[in-house]
Amino acid sequence: MPPTSIAGDLALALDPARIVAPLGLTPDPWQAAVLRSPAPRLLLNCARQSGKSTVSAGIAVHTALYDPGALVLLLSPSLRQSQELFRKCLAINHALGSPVPAEAETKLTWELANGSRIVSLPGKEATIRGFSGVRLLLADEAARVPDDLYHAIRPMLAVSGGRLVALSTPFGKRGWWYAAWTHGGDAWERYEVPAPAVPRIPATFLAEERRALGERVFAQEYLCRFRDTDDAVFGADAIAAAADPHVKPLLIALEGPDAPLPDVRADDAPDRGTALVWTALGPANAPLRDRP
Ligand SMILES: Nc1ncnc2c1ncn2[C@@H]1O[C@H](COP(=O)(O)OP(=O)(O)O)[C@@H](O)[C@H]1O
Ligand SMILES: [Mg+2]
Repeated sequence: MPPTSIAGDLALALDPARIVAPLGLTPDPWQAAVLRSPAPRLLLNCARQSGKSTVSAGIAVHTALYDPGALVLLLSPSLRQSQELFRKCLAINHALGSPVPAEAETKLTWELANGSRIVSLPGKEATIRGFSGVRLLLADEAARVPDDLYHAIRPMLAVSGGRLVALSTPFGKRGWWYAAWTHGGDAWERYEVPAPAVPRIPATFLAEERRALGERVFAQEYLCRFRDTDDAVFGADAIAAAADPHVKPLLIALEGPDAPLPDVRADDAPDRGTALVWTALGPANAPLRDRP
């Protein structure tokens, strides 16, 4: 049933999972669940090539078509990546038969006659302020979207009660997306899609990738695992395990680089393991062991 017919239009309005059908795609069960989800906050932790950009473009187009006046923002670490997602949106709309006429279309913005807009954003904090009333924000490759950018965009959802859909493969144990996935609490609905669960990705290809990339990168790119970066001196797990919330830090700030070291004895550290931290600022900041 073409979506440009009334019945097709109604069917698509009621079931967003139908939106990728005109591309000749049958959504995977997780893609259908994501498309149908009404959750205001979604995290998609998915392998490369699993189909997360396709599904999020589907959400964007469905919102623009059936929520008149909606402002949909596409955010990525770079404008090039936002535009890729933007092009996927245009392709879906084209395949649907462009059910709502376009008022204007540029490389960055698509405006519909129903007042909705889809805008692709550059990955720079300074240039994206100024949008308000955002109905849907899609963050693609979200693990690589810098924290300051994320903090700048969140307020845009406040008044409008807009949705936030953040999709990515992991990129180390750092940043807002990792924090949201691991301890962001119930505010987020989460989907995890490792490559072996994607019917289109052959096991032979994955075996080859595992050999070529090594375990650490393979686990990150294809198994949705957060791994420490190559250049980390200490692993994030080791640092977390070393922290003891019961230990009170004993902070002693020196007056300056030449100030004498305080006379601290073991009795000054009443709790087992109390930390002694000297802060000595300035050019003559000599290592403690070299001080008299
Ligand atoms: N349900 C599906 N059925 C068939 N092909 C799909 C499906 N979902 C995505 N694809 C195809 O898989 C490829 C990767 O999709 P994409 O959305 O770019 O993945 P990702 O963003 O996760 O890397 C694209 O060629 C896309 O058309
Ligand atoms: Mg993608």
